[in-house]
Amino acid sequence: MHEIQYTDGGEFRHFLSVEGAKEPLLTAILDSAERFSDVAERRVKKLPTLNGKVVVNLFFEPSTRTQNSFELAAKRLSADVLNTNIKTSSTTKGETLRDTIMTIAAMQCDCFVVRHGSAGAVQYVAEHAPAGIAVVNAGDGRHSHPTQAMLDAFTIRRHKPQFEGMKVAIVGDILHSRVARSEIHALKTLGVSQINAVAPLTLIPRDIEALGVEVHTDIKTGLQDCDVVMMLRLQKERMNGSLLPSETDYYQQYGVDQARLNYAKPDALVMHPGPMNRGVEISSEVADGPQSVIWEQVKNGVAVRMAVLSMTIANQQQWLHEQQLKAKGHIGGVMI
Ligand code: CP
Repeated sequence: MHEIQYTDGGEFRHFLSVEGAKEPLLTAILDSAERFSDVAERRVKKLPTLNGKVVVNLFFEPSTRTQNSFELAAKRLSADVLNTNIKTSSTTKGETLRDTIMTIAAMQCDCFVVRHGSAGAVQYVAEHAPAGIAVVNAGDGRHSHPTQAMLDAFTIRRHKPQFEGMKVAIVGDILHSRVARSEIHALKTLGVSQINAVAPLTLIPRDIEALGVEVHTDIKTGLQDCDVVMMLRLQKERMNGSLLPSETDYYQQYGVDQARLNYAKPDALVMHPGPMNRGVEISSEVADGPQSVIWEQVKNGVAVRMAVLSMTIANQQQWLHEQQLKAKGHIGGVMI
């Protein structure tokens, strides 16, 4: 097992969470994604950055956006991509997560992109993967979805370059949302002034105010004068027990339609990480309306994931090289 360095400074070898990441690193990811956007948006077809590298998608939970955009990001950087089909893998015969990782690592790879239903599972992969393999969190339980937070920040910055003074509403099932947790950390670190959590109290984590977030159970005050309105899906697969009377009741109180969106600023961005439940948390007129940047979020996911893959894999390589030099008695290229 090797020491884990999280997401700070030059030691950005894994991307497990945005918690603890400093503003310069987050800004560096956004700036790198901006430089990759010509390739992500296909004005340039491919770059050789990850030529010869192998990126493995290990998705233990379903995904449309994240898995496909990691695959495209890796391919546009010329990496080879292995999409492991967990449903037909030997995990169904009782193979442990550690043995699955060690098995694929034995075939030589450079990066694991991992989605898992259990919070902490991706950190476990990072702790047990052989040295030199970058691990990127593609969403773990309710814990973290760092690349979603970064692609959302990227999308916001393209429309509204100043995070300072910005007011953001996050509306919906915040309790079960790894996206909300990562979003709050990323946007606060980047300088967003106010974040409103808008939901019934049954869907708001008890400790959220400690993160500097304002709680609003009234959607009108929650959306008032916001620059960004970000909706979240009701995560029924993570709900134990009855937290809401019904979806119809939820839509009547918290669903964002054009009349409610009008409480926000006239140029407010409408965002949703997907998958959307139209008619539950968002109306189709808002999802497909002129303020919506929902498809831009999806598009920007490729550029942001290109940035994260290229940075973490390069830092892992550099770190491994330094470890090998140290093991041979060389420090900084000098024999000691
Ligand atoms: N936003 C998001 O994580 O979507 P997928 O579950 O489709 O990857």
